[in-house]
Amino acid sequence: MTTQRQTGLRVLLAGASGLVGGHCLTQLLADDAIGQVTVFARRALEQTHPKLTLHAVNFDHLSDHVEAISADVALCCLGTTQRAAGSPEAFAKVDHIYVAELARLAVARGVPRFVLVSAVGADPGSPVFYNRIKGRAEAAVSELPFKAVHILRPSLLLGERREPRLVEDWSQSLAPLWSLFLWGPFSRYRPIAAETVAARMVELAKGDQEGVYIHYFND
Ligand SMILES: NC(=O)c1ccc[n+]([C@@H]2O[C@H](COP(=O)([O-])OP(=O)(O)OC[C@H]3O[C@@H](n4cnc5c(N)ncnc54)[C@H](OP(=O)(O)O)[C@@H]3O)[C@@H](O)[C@H]2O)c1
Repeated sequence: MTTQRQTGLRVLLAGASGLVGGHCLTQLLADDAIGQVTVFARRALEQTHPKLTLHAVNFDHLSDHVEAISADVALCCLGTTQRAAGSPEAFAKVDHIYVAELARLAVARGVPRFVLVSAVGADPGSPVFYNRIKGRAEAAVSELPFKAVHILRPSLLLGERREPRLVEDWSQSLAPLWSLFLWGPFSRYRPIAAETVAARMVELAKGDQEGVYIHYFND
């Protein structure tokens, strides 16, 4: 049997077609410590690479693909907006149910580590629907018996999207000004480059800490 030392880390990635996930994929493929990247996505990706295996999956039937989960760490960058999903329930399905199901199957397949990009303000008890859903996803992942769970809580993500999002594009243009006022305990609300978040996710994926960790802008 080949060992992890000989082949490099095996990574499962969900959300690779998105802003953060796309940066994760690029960085993982360029990283010599990573031996294999398995992507779960609902559509084909542009990239091809000897280390990359794409599994076209319907996330409503994720358990049909459980056999394809064989990894040392899972990275989850799934997410949508209520506008894109079409309803609050459809948004919650992607941002909570799909995330929780991916984590559940990862544990079932013996994946020891899970790295999730969530959002600042995530809290299952929040009166804000978005924050509540993000908090529920975090709780679902954190209570599973992984050796390590890393949850990143960025504020506004900066970067170029394939399809423009009016509110986010407008917010991005104001980001430098907005950041000037966010100091001390408010620094966690500073906008952050999606590429930086991805780099931190990849770094955490390669680490060996055990336990559940929450990471904010300053971290
Ligand atoms: N945008 C922000 O400023 C911001 C701020 C804080 C936190 N976050 C959170 O950070 C995470 C990453 O954000 P992002 O901007 O990188 O996300 P993104 O660009 O919208 O990408 C989201 C990913 O989820 C996938 N996805 C969405 N709906 C799906 C569905 N129904 N079935 C299967 N896959 C689906 C997308 O696949 P397709 O390409 O096939 O749609 C894509 O790969 C999200 O959880 C987001 O909520 C975002």
